[in-house]
Amino acid sequence: MTARALAPEDAPLVRRELPLDPDDFAAYFSFAPAALALRECVRLAAVRPLDLPAPILDVGCGDGLFARLAYPDRAAWGIDINPTEVQRAQATSSYGTLLCGNICDVQLPQGFFGSSIANCSLEHVPDLAGALRNIRGALRPGAPFALIVPTPDWTRRLLVVEALRKAGLAGLARAYGDTLDRVFHHVHLYDEAGWTARLLAAGFEDVQVSSIVGRDTSWAFDVLLYPSLLGLLTKRLTGRWVIAPWLRPVGVDVVRKLVDALGSLAPTSDDPGEYLILCRTPRSGA
Ligand SMILES: C[S@@+](CC[C@H](N)C(=O)[O-])C[C@H]1O[C@@H](n2cnc3c(N)ncnc32)[C@H](O)[C@@H]1O
Repeated sequence: MTARALAPEDAPLVRRELPLDPDDFAAYFSFAPAALALRECVRLAAVRPLDLPAPILDVGCGDGLFARLAYPDRAAWGIDINPTEVQRAQATSSYGTLLCGNICDVQLPQGFFGSSIANCSLEHVPDLAGALRNIRGALRPGAPFALIVPTPDWTRRLLVVEALRKAGLAGLARAYGDTLDRVFHHVHLYDEAGWTARLLAAGFEDVQVSSIVGRDTSWAFDVLLYPSLLGLLTKRLTGRWVIAPWLRPVGVDVVRKLVDALGSLAPTSDDPGEYLILCRTPRSGA
């Protein structure tokens, strides 16, 4: 078994991720608040170059928009625990097959999938070992598995956190970050070694961890978070982020230009907000 987590001294500076792709941002912004649309665009750019053979198992698939934009022509199954999300994914026809259930114990065909992706879902699943075991069993020998998860210090490069620290208010900065972790229901926040150890323990191999979500993305995300809280309220009440998607194109370019401008003010830094982790099942099928 092999594991390769980038050691801190090897880790590249997280590259600038802005300006955003206008088409991706427009596609997301119609259905999601600007802060989420921004992060999803960055994740899309990171995931598209990956070779994820069909059929793909999309774990914690949500509304399916990510799958539709990331790998539009590949057969995929979506699984999500939230029936409202599954209904929305059904409406977007993003998946050939949709399952509503818990990834820890949902019945999946064994050795069937060519690859799997979990975009910002496994950090929410309390029984992480159970989830990883079930995913691994459903994959073919040698199949890649890609995860995107927040880093333990993902709040460190948010604009408000940096400003509070600079003002000598480290306690308040920590409280701000902890509050966001509670709002987003983050159960698992591990460093590279922590994720690598858990994936190896579940029987995955060749674990490679790379860094995404740089300071430019983090600064713009933090500023957009406050207007986006309205979307969170709408989502809790109606199950949808955006009530009138047809109105969104009116403001999309202004918001995107604002995101790009905010990001351009941020100096680069070494602290990533998220990890893109790639591993695979053993080729022998052991
Ligand atoms: C942050 S959302 C990400 C959605 C989607 N991957 C995307 O990129 O838009 C996390 C998703 O994981 C789902 N989820 C959380 N726990 C789960 C579990 N135990 N089994 C299956 N899905 C789960 C949630 O319902 C939610 O839709």
